[in-house]
Amino acid sequence: MKPEVRVHADVDELSRAAARWTALCARQAVSARGRFFLMISGGTTPAHLFDTLAQKAGLAMPWDKTEIYWADERVVPPTDPSSNFRLAQEHLFSRVSVPEAQLHRIQTELGPSAAAYTYRDELLRISGLQARGADQPPVFDLIWLGIGKDGHTASLFPGSADLDSPELAVAVRAPAGVAPTDRVSVTLNVLNNARCAAFLVSGADKRDVVGRILADEKGRASELPVARVHGLEQTIWFVDRAAFAG
Ligand code: 6PG
Repeated sequence: MKPEVRVHADVDELSRAAARWTALCARQAVSARGRFFLMISGGTTPAHLFDTLAQKAGLAMPWDKTEIYWADERVVPPTDPSSNFRLAQEHLFSRVSVPEAQLHRIQTELGPSAAAYTYRDELLRISGLQARGADQPPVFDLIWLGIGKDGHTASLFPGSADLDSPELAVAVRAPAGVAPTDRVSVTLNVLNNARCAAFLVSGADKRDVVGRILADEKGRASELPVARVHGLEQTIWFVDRAAFAG
């Protein structure tokens, strides 16, 4: 199933659209179920979305009813410049009022394997969503992901055995040349159980991989992690002109 693609002029317009989409999903989730379960990623593009969410009071984000989780994390201290938690903290959570208990960071100080195991438990604790059995993935309302130019998403890299893992979260070693090496990532079990899986894609270096997946009629790109992510209700790619060849 092809994703819905929304093309925006540049990263600022993309971020404004993504912020509006976040607020819409949040309001719908809160009105239907009382809480909004949001998962976010790292990389560079989310900083623009986080800044926009922090600046736009008019979006009426129900932060007090929003539970935040991370799709992946680099195994570094939470204060490290390459930490995905730190990115979100600096650009968003230091600027809006989210109760600390609602920020469910991946506890990297435990080391990769224990952090993945503890995070699995954290995912299973999501209140009210465990009814279908202890090892069932929770249902996130919205997961924001990015696309690596090699087709990775979260910290699920092409060719990795983690793509078929039965777990909810795994300790990952990134391929040679990708730093930091040690990561924790949620698996496709979690990503494919979200109501909406949404991607933020910006920049000319993404053009090849975006074109390759969208033009794929014969399933040749289906081995790429990005191409294997489908939301339960929606899969949306927010791309900017630089990343989209048409
Ligand atoms: C990470 C990510 C990763 C990211 C992509 C795209 O921690 O690195 O979660 O999957 O989303 O690499 O990154 P950009 O936002 O820089 O394009």
